[in-house]
Amino acid sequence: KKVLHIVGARPNFMKAAPIHKAIAGRGQLAQVLVHTGQHYDVKMSDVFFTDLGMPAPDVYLGIGSGSHAEQTARTMIELEKVFLKEKPDLVSVVGDVNSTIAGALVASKMGIRIAHVEAGLRSFDMRMPEEVNRIVTDRLADLLLTPSPDADANLLKEGVDPSRIHFVGNVMIDTLLTSKARAEQLPTLKELGLSPQGYAVCTLHRASNVDDPKVLSGLLSSLAHISARLPVIFPVHPRTRKMLADHGLSGMLERSPGLRLVEPMGYLEFLALTSQARLILTDSGGLQEESTALGVPCLTLRENTERPITVEQGTNLVVGTDPVRITEEAERALSGQGKQGRIPEKWDGRSAERIAELYERVLGADPSELRV
Ligand code: UD1
Repeated sequence: KKVLHIVGARPNFMKAAPIHKAIAGRGQLAQVLVHTGQHYDVKMSDVFFTDLGMPAPDVYLGIGSGSHAEQTARTMIELEKVFLKEKPDLVSVVGDVNSTIAGALVASKMGIRIAHVEAGLRSFDMRMPEEVNRIVTDRLADLLLTPSPDADANLLKEGVDPSRIHFVGNVMIDTLLTSKARAEQLPTLKELGLSPQGYAVCTLHRASNVDDPKVLSGLLSSLAHISARLPVIFPVHPRTRKMLADHGLSGMLERSPGLRLVEPMGYLEFLALTSQARLILTDSGGLQEESTALGVPCLTLRENTERPITVEQGTNLVVGTDPVRITEEAERALSGQGKQGRIPEKWDGRSAERIAELYERVLGADPSELRV
C-alpha cells in the first residue's frame, strides 16, 4: 500500500517530515513525497529539507506564485497527473495552505482516500484564505487527524462522524522536540550579537497584516517602540519584504536601529532564536504553537486564532493589531509578567508515530507489497 504526501509551503515541511520518517522506520508502507513548489526560494524551501533531514522530494511540480485561483488550479492539474501515475492508496495533506486544498480536491474526485493532518482548527473568520482551505479540506478528508481537543469539538459540531476523527496531537512539536538541542548548539545568537533572553523575535506575513499599508505601518510603529527597550529580530517573509518596498515603509525602519530585519531563516537557526527569546510577536499559526511548546511568552498580532489551546493552556495572548495595545502588552511581558503556560496533551513528540500506526491500520498494510 502506498501513501502519497503533499507538501508545498514552508509550514508544511516540519509537519510532513516526522510522518515520512515514522512510516519509513516502520517499513510497512511505500511512500511518495510530492513538493508542489508553492514555496520555491532556497530560504523558504530547500533549507528545510536539509535541516529536517527529509529526503529530496520524489516529485517536484514547480508551481510557484500566483493568484489564489492560478496557484490552486495549476497545482490541481499537475497533481492529477501524479496521482494517475503513482496510484496512491492514501493522500496525506498537512495544514491549511493552497497546496493542501488542491491535493484534497483532486484526490476526492479520483476516489482516493485522504488524510488531513492538523484537522479541525477554526478561526471562524472566512476572510482568511487558510480558513477556507481548512474547512473544505476537512469536508473532503476521510481521516481527520487533530492536534487538540478543541479541533475535535469543532468537527463534531460540523456533523463529522466521530469515527473519522483521531486526536493524534501536534506533529510539528515532534520536529521541535527532536531539533531543539541541535538548534541551540548553533552559533546563531553569537553571530547576531545577542544573549539568551536578551531580545524579542517578530514575524509577519499574513495578507491581512502586510498588504494593507495602514495596518503594516501601525505594526511597525509598535515594533519600533519595543525595539527601544531590547533588540527585535525580524526575519522578513518575501511577501512582507515586497509590501515594505511597495508601501514605501523602509524609511520607518531606518529610524529604529533596534528593529533588525534579517533574511528568512532555516528551521534550526530560527528555532535557536525563538527558543532563547524573551518574547515572540507574530501573526503565524505555527509560531503560536511553538512558543507554547517552548514556554516563551507570545503576542499574536491578529484579531483571532484558530489555535485557542495556545491561549487557554499555553503562553499565547491574542492582542490584535492596535499599536497601543501591542506596546502595552509587550511592556507587561518584558517586565516579567509574560503569560505562563503548560504543554497541551499529546504535544509529546509521538504524534507522527500515532499517525503512521493509524495509516497502517486503515490501509491494512501488507509489507509484501512494499515498493520503495
Ligand atoms: C502561504 C500560506 C500561508 C502560510 C505561508 C507561510 C496559502 C493561502 N498561504 O502564504 O497560510 O502561513 O505560506 O509562509 O497557501 N514568495 C517568494 N518566494 C517563495 C514563496 C513566496 O518570493 O518561495 C513571495 C511571492 O511574491 C508570492 C508571495 O510571496 O507571491 C506569497 O506567496 P504564497 O505562497 O502565495 O503565500 P504566502 O504569503 O507565502
